[in-house]
Amino acid sequence: MWQRCQKQTRKVTTTSLEYDEYDTGAEIELRWTPTEQQHEILLNDAKYNVFLGGIGSGKTVLGCMWSVSNCLNYPGSIGVVVAPTYTLIRDVIWPELAKWLPTEAIAEFPTGAKKIIFRNGSVIMFRTADSRRSIERLRGLTVSWFWIDEATLLEKEVWNILVGRIRQPGHLHRGLVTGTPKMNWVYSKFIEAPTKQMHIIKEIPTSANPFLSPDYIEGLKQEYTGLFYEQEVLGRFV
Ligand SMILES: Nc1ncnc2c1ncn2[C@@H]1O[C@H](COP(=O)(O)OP(=O)(O)OP(=O)(O)O)[C@@H](O)[C@H]1O
Ligand SMILES: [Mg+2]
Repeated sequence: MWQRCQKQTRKVTTTSLEYDEYDTGAEIELRWTPTEQQHEILLNDAKYNVFLGGIGSGKTVLGCMWSVSNCLNYPGSIGVVVAPTYTLIRDVIWPELAKWLPTEAIAEFPTGAKKIIFRNGSVIMFRTADSRRSIERLRGLTVSWFWIDEATLLEKEVWNILVGRIRQPGHLHRGLVTGTPKMNWVYSKFIEAPTKQMHIIKEIPTSANPFLSPDYIEGLKQEYTGLFYEQEVLGRFV
């Protein structure tokens, strides 16, 4: 997959740094090979994209690719990645994101920092939503886009707040939701009552990710049974 990043030179102010000029440099070539479902969402311009699938079906990688694409394609845009806990951000999202970030596009990605700053002025912020306070703090944001990972582990309020925060002037306003199925607000919102602004990919089994080893999938089949298997491996709402 190719992603092109236009040359830009203009003044931009991020929340912590001011650049007099920024230049994304040459076009950046991303040699990604998305899965079928990742590809479908990366090319989709619905306001809200939703990917609900089994464990390992490629949800977090999709979120990383989608976030990086937004940053490269829309210089100066600010996005927020929300996950249930800091541990998940530190141990899963950052290492995965690091695999998909073109280093030449990055100005700052300090270890442990809660934001990544791109040379083109785009910013990715990271927030947890594991307490009342952290959820309430989301209300202070003004962003172009959000990505909620593991949405089924979060409260509906996180979604409610974030849809009201995507209003960075002069930018695209979009959201991505990823998660493993669970019968909670995610089911009522995206399966029972989706709106026209939503593009939803659901019931994606673990086996839809061709980058997993057959051993891994076979191992899950052996261990998991019944409804748990259906939910975790077949990606179904049960
Ligand atoms: N497009 C891709 N190209 C290469 N590898 C990929 C791709 N998509 C996924 N993978 C590989 O598959 C693994 C599982 O993908 P990912 O972490 O996105 O799944 P997940 O659905 O978020 O899993 P979990 O349910 O555990 O959160 C990744 O660590 C990565 O190694
Ligand atoms: Mg994941």
